[in-house]
Amino acid sequence: MGNQGPAAAISVCSREAALIAQKISADHGLRIGRTAIRLRNPQNAPPEWVRPLLDTAPTEAQFVSVADNTLGALLPIRLQQKCLACHGPTDSLRDDVREQLSAFYPDDAATGYAEGDVRGWFWVESPLEQSDPGQQN
Ligand code: HEC
Repeated sequence: MGNQGPAAAISVCSREAALIAQKISADHGLRIGRTAIRLRNPQNAPPEWVRPLLDTAPTEAQFVSVADNTLGALLPIRLQQKCLACHGPTDSLRDDVREQLSAFYPDDAATGYAEGDVRGWFWVESPLEQSDPGQQN
């Protein structure tokens, strides 16, 4: 967050998370994203295959077949103490953080959490290696 505090980190955080996701995806041929049940950014809504998995708000990693030759993984993200500056109870947030959040995210549902809560999930779609018929006996 640097020395400008959490309010300044809000815009950086959202831009950097997206850039990191793009870079990893490009390097490894994966599709990845972050999602949650109580969203801050509506653009983080879950892809189709993730939706039914969220019904039980899983606290353990889930692995499913997304389509032929595509594996899907859903990995819970737990909140640490440092996350509460922007995801803790609304009345515990700094005034400038609260103002920034309501300016950038008018429909923010991602406050009111405690340390250790599952805040959301990373989802990953990974192509499986095509089995090579030439390798079979
Ligand atoms: C400086 C404020 C700030 C801090 C600290 C912070 N977040 Fe966030 N968080 C945000 C913002 C802003 C977004 C929306 C980002 C976007 O536009 O994708 C967000 C989005 C998310 C999302 C994506 C789902 C959604 O609701 O859009 C998850 C998951 C998440 N944060 C988890 C965490 C965790 C875990 C930590 C601590 C390691 C943390 N955050 C710390 C501000 C913060």
